[in-house]
Amino acid sequence: MAGSLIRKRKSRRHSGNRVTSGVTLAAAVPLFAVGILSMSTKTKAQVGPDPRLVAQLGKALFFEADLSNPKGMSCATCHNPDAGFSFPISLINQTQGPVPGAVPGRFGNRKPPTVSYTRFLPQGTPTLDPNNREYQGGLFYDGRVPNLTEQAKAPFLNPNEMNNTLHNVANPAAVVTAVSVGPNAALFKQVYGPTVFQQPTAQVYQLIAQSIAAWEGTPEVNPFTSKYDAFLEGRVALTAQEMNGLRLFTGSVTGRPGGPAFTKNAECSSCHNLAPTTAGHDLFTTGRYFNIGLPKNSHNPFYTMTDPIANPAGYNPLGYHFIDFGLGDFLYPLNGLPSGAVAQGDPLAIDGLFKTPTVRNVDKRPYPLFIKDYGHNGVIKSLKGAVHFYNTRNLTTIAGEVIDFTKPNPYLGLKGKPFWPTPEIPSAKTLINPAGHRTGPGRHIGNLGLTDSEENDLVAFLRALSDGYFERSGNTVPPPP
Ligand code: HEC
Ligand code: HEC
Repeated sequence: MAGSLIRKRKSRRHSGNRVTSGVTLAAAVPLFAVGILSMSTKTKAQVGPDPRLVAQLGKALFFEADLSNPKGMSCATCHNPDAGFSFPISLINQTQGPVPGAVPGRFGNRKPPTVSYTRFLPQGTPTLDPNNREYQGGLFYDGRVPNLTEQAKAPFLNPNEMNNTLHNVANPAAVVTAVSVGPNAALFKQVYGPTVFQQPTAQVYQLIAQSIAAWEGTPEVNPFTSKYDAFLEGRVALTAQEMNGLRLFTGSVTGRPGGPAFTKNAECSSCHNLAPTTAGHDLFTTGRYFNIGLPKNSHNPFYTMTDPIANPAGYNPLGYHFIDFGLGDFLYPLNGLPSGAVAQGDPLAIDGLFKTPTVRNVDKRPYPLFIKDYGHNGVIKSLKGAVHFYNTRNLTTIAGEVIDFTKPNPYLGLKGKPFWPTPEIPSAKTLINPAGHRTGPGRHIGNLGLTDSEENDLVAFLRALSDGYFERSGNTVPPPP
């Protein structure tokens, strides 16, 4: 069954991942039920395995490089803690964005987002909030898995990632076998019992995924130890520049949403909102889906993946013409329509919507000159670039000229040169502030009216969101538990 799903979907990337999303939608799990809590209360009726050991095992599996085909790639290959749980090779971030898989010459179509803080995101299938017509729920940029456990099952099987496939069909048995003879087999038996590997493949595979998800839910992955957190705890002051950035980020003098209006509002917190998590800390995302209008990344290596013979289950039949529809790639097929549903005119208004990532750790990098990339396709290569994009998406080199994406041909008659290439999905239906308004009701992305130094203030603030502040600054004050 998994195989037929994969074959049916070979016109799209990430086939492996879809296999699991199909399985799990039926078994959607309630909000915030992931992680250690569910481990101790759900898996075993009477005495569950020790949650600390489960997390320890999950961490070991996250770093185990024997679980790919060919061997050598682990979850941490793409989600490295030193890079804020994203991709740790500067040159690839700089020149590509989306990253290589275990099989040489294969690439995914999106860049690895951070794993940190995803345990606090709304779970389930993306659903429409009727109050503001925004979608929320689910993991991956397009929400195609409902929770971290189901997510962890996907990369192992994805032909363009860890590639545990047999005759181009997803093959969880290979992962289970590899774990059972790998460096963590003894720990696995210690946690789940000496006969655990005699259980059916699906059950052991579930335990593998649950263990990884449990670790992803621990404070080690979600530490809340940035300078900003220390600032909120009253243990350190923000610099004037960082504070100005926070005020611009929230549009509030106090830096808390809802405070007296600041002179300018970059509106960041309307999507990267500060609302506290269950753990009582600001998350910097609602996990909701938006089209902020990022352009295509012409250096996306997925465009070159056009060979169906070399990679039947993961190739890209459209080549450079591949369009990433985000939520439209998941919800339309779920409803029996083709990805993106362009021909139908995007009736649900979801093409180009991507899940809002947290901006915690966007500056976390192993060394100062290390290059990180941003957005689902990694097209933006610096934080300054990201902020400048929000500030000028609808502008051109002629002061005051605005590109209006509600017009049939927005570029017709422009006198200046647009600052940015056209959005990948320039749809007035989904683009935030398509007309490029500078004032008035709603959001003003694309024409925020920030000066260069205000852009820098925002960058300074984003840089205060990297975990491990006290460790980095050499201050011995320990972070709170
Ligand atoms: C080859 C690189 C690669 C490997 C290996 C990899 N990932 Fe990922 N990961 C990605 C990419 C790319 C995405 C985004 C894909 C998408 O949204 O379609 C992602 C998304 C995620 C997300 C979702 C984050 C969010 O905000 O929704 C989590 C969690 C995650 N990966 C965990 C893992 C785990 C656990 C493993 C190992 C079992 C793993 N990854 C292996 C590249 C990788
Ligand atoms: C309308 C909602 C919205 C607003 C407002 C918004 N963002 Fe975003 N942000 C998003 C979404 C959605 C993404 C992911 C887009 C994608 O990948 O296509 C994103 C991505 C980012 C990223 C890249 C993160 C990463 O890990 O790749 C940064 C940095 C960022 N935003 C910063 C900001 C800042 C700074 C502001 C204010 C100037 C802001 N955002 C305003 C929704 C928003």
